[in-house]
Amino acid sequence: MIPNSTPQPSDAADIVAKMRHLIDALKRHNHAYYVLDAPILQDSEYDQLRQKLLSLEAAHPDLVQADSPTNQVGGVPLAQFTQVTHATPMLSLGNVFNYAELQDFMRRVNERLSDAQQNPDYDIELKLDGLAVALVYEHGTLRQAVTRGDGQVGEDITHNARTIRNLPQVLPAKIGQAIARLEVRGEVLMPKAGFLRLNRDAEARGDKTFANPRNAAAGSLRQLDPSIAAQRPLAFYAYSVNDGLPADITTQTQALRWLQGLGFSIGEIQTATDSAAVQAAYEAINVKRADLPYEIDGVVIKVNDLSLQRQLGSLSREPRWAMAYKFPAQTVITRLNAIDWQVGRTGQLTPVGKLAPVNVGGVTVSNVSLHNIGEIQRLDVRVGDMVSVHRAGDVIPKLTRVWLDERPADSVPVTLPKQCPVCASPVVLPEGEALARCTGGLYCPAQQQEALVHFVSRRAMDIDGLGERLLAQFFALGWLHNVADIYDLPKHQSAMIALDKLGEKSVDNLINAIEASKHTTLPRFIYALGIRGVGESTALNLARQFGDLPALMAANTDELLKTPDIGDITAASIHEFFAATHNREVIERLLAAGIQWEAVNQATDGQQPLKGQTWVITGTLAQMPRDEAKAKLQALGASVSGSLSGKTSVLLAGEKAGSKLAKAENLGIRIVDEAEFMQLLADFADTATP
Ligand code: IVH
Repeated sequence: MIPNSTPQPSDAADIVAKMRHLIDALKRHNHAYYVLDAPILQDSEYDQLRQKLLSLEAAHPDLVQADSPTNQVGGVPLAQFTQVTHATPMLSLGNVFNYAELQDFMRRVNERLSDAQQNPDYDIELKLDGLAVALVYEHGTLRQAVTRGDGQVGEDITHNARTIRNLPQVLPAKIGQAIARLEVRGEVLMPKAGFLRLNRDAEARGDKTFANPRNAAAGSLRQLDPSIAAQRPLAFYAYSVNDGLPADITTQTQALRWLQGLGFSIGEIQTATDSAAVQAAYEAINVKRADLPYEIDGVVIKVNDLSLQRQLGSLSREPRWAMAYKFPAQTVITRLNAIDWQVGRTGQLTPVGKLAPVNVGGVTVSNVSLHNIGEIQRLDVRVGDMVSVHRAGDVIPKLTRVWLDERPADSVPVTLPKQCPVCASPVVLPEGEALARCTGGLYCPAQQQEALVHFVSRRAMDIDGLGERLLAQFFALGWLHNVADIYDLPKHQSAMIALDKLGEKSVDNLINAIEASKHTTLPRFIYALGIRGVGESTALNLARQFGDLPALMAANTDELLKTPDIGDITAASIHEFFAATHNREVIERLLAAGIQWEAVNQATDGQQPLKGQTWVITGTLAQMPRDEAKAKLQALGASVSGSLSGKTSVLLAGEKAGSKLAKAENLGIRIVDEAEFMQLLADFADTATP
C-alpha cells in the first residue's frame, strides 16, 4: 500500500473530527472576541489553533469544512448598530512568523511581477493592535465611521468616532473640500497610558476591568451612548486611502504622508527593498516595542507602489501585496512532559515543569516554574497536558492555561514527593504553608553549600578568609560536604597551596582562622547551625533558656515553647532539626573537632539589666552596624523593635536620625545618643557579648 494515499475512512473521520474540534474552538473564540469583547484566548493562541487548522486543510483539501473560519474575516455585526456595507471589502492580512516565511512571501510577490518589476520597494508599517475602522469624508467633512465587521458589512459607529480627539472631523479646506468622497482606513486603539488609567479608575470604583488595550478600545467603540466613548482615551491611526486619493500619489508612503498633511496621525514608516533590510527593520522595531505609547503585535509589509498593488490583487480574505510579520508569540501552546522537583538552598522544594521546548517571545523555553504544589492544584495541571506558556520581554516564563479539552487519557496527576529527590529525607508541608521542604538539613547536598556559607559567616563561626567562592571550590573538590568537614580542611593544606591564587600565606591564615573559630559562644554556635527560624536573638534566648547544648538537643516542643519569642513553628523546626540523626552526627563531629565555649552563666545572664525595655534604633551608628547594636541590646535583655509606639522605652538615635527622632520627642520617649549607648555597653561589658 502506498503510504499517505487517500485517507482510509477511519483516518478521514479522525481528521474531520480534529478539524471540527478546531473549528468549534475558533468559533467560540470569535464570538467571545468580536461579539462579547471578552476574548478567551491570547492572539498567539488563536493564531496557533488557526495555523493547526490551516495545515490540516492544506494536507486534506477534500475534507475542508464548509463553515471553516479560515475562510472568513471575523465577527458578525451587532444587531443594535446600523449595518453598513463597505464600498470595497475590508480585508485582513496574512501572517508570517519568521525570516524564511518572510522570504517566501517576497518570492511569491516576485513570481507575479514581470522581469522589469522584480524586487519592488516595500513600505514597512507598525501593526497597530486596535480595531479597523473605515472613515468616509464628503467634501472634507466626516460623514460616516464603520467597523470592519465581517469584512463586507460593518457597524456604523460614527457617533463614537466623533469623540476621538485625534481624528479630524473636518479636513483642511483647500484639499479636503475638493474631494467629493474620501475613504480613509485605519486603526482605533487605546494608548497604553490611557488604558492603565482607565483600568485603575474602574478598579477603584469596583467596576469590571478590561483584559487589554484592544478590548478596551473595542468595548468603547461599541457603546451606543457616545458620551461613554467620549470619556475613553481612544486614538485613530490611519493606514490606507481607499477612495479619493489624488492621482499624483503613486506609493503607499506618499499616501500616508499626504494623510498626515490632512491632520491624521500615522504610525512610523520606513521602506526597504530586500528581505534582509525588512528583517533588520522588524528586529529594530521589536526592540523598541515596549517603549511605544501603544501596543503593536508586529509590522505590516506592503508593496509600496500602488499600481503594483492593484496588479497583484487580492485573495478572498487578504491582499497578495501585503503581509503581517508578527512578533514571536508571547504565549505558546506546548506539552508538559514532566515535573522536576528542585531543592533550593534552604531546602524548599519547587516544582519545575519540563516542557517540549518551544520558542516563546524569541527565546527557547523548556522549563517553567510552577512555584508550589498549591499552584499545581489551582491550575489542575497534569503531566502530559497541553499548556499555554507566556513570556513577555524579560519576564520569566509562566504557565497561564491548561487545555483541559486536549487532556490525553494517560495524563498523570502531580503529587508532592514523599522523599527529597536529592537526599531521600522525608518531605514536609507544614500546615498553612505553601512550600514543601526537605527535612535533610545539614545532610542534604542541595542545602549544604548554603549551610556552609551561613556557618562561616561573621556573626556565626566567623571564619575569616573562607568566602563563598572558596567554599564552592572546596565543595566541588569534594573536600566539603557538611559543616563538620571545615575542621578537616587543614589536612588538605598542601593541596590548597597548589590551588590557583592561594599562596602559602593565605592558606596559613585560613587554617589559623579555622582553628580560632573553635573558641566561640553557645549562642553563636546555635545560630551557626542554620536551624530554620533560629536567628541570632532566638539563638541567644535558647542558650539562656537551656544553658547548654545537650539540654537544648533533648528538649521537646513544650519545653522549647517556654523560651521567649519562640512560637509553634520555630519550636517544631528546632525539635525536628535535633531529632534528625544526620544532624546529630554533624554536631558530634563538630564537638569532637574541638569546638568549645564558656559555660553560659544563666545566673548572671539572667540579670539582664535592660529586661522589659523596648528599644528602637534609628539613624547611622558610627561604631558598629545596627544589627550588632541590636544583638548587644538583646544580650542585655532589651527587645528591639523596628517602629516607635507607646510601648517604646528608649530610642537609640545615631547620625541623621529623621522623623523617628521628632516623633520620639513628641511622644516623650527617652532618647539615647551613640556616646551614651557606648557608655552603657561598657558599664555592662560582661553581659553584652552575644
Ligand atoms: S493594512 C488590505 N496596515 O491588522 C490591507 N492593517 O490583521 C489591510 N492593522 O484588519 C490592512 N496595523 O486592523 C494594515 N499598518 C497597518 C495595520 C493594519 C494594524 C490591522 C488591521 C487589519 C489587521 C489584519
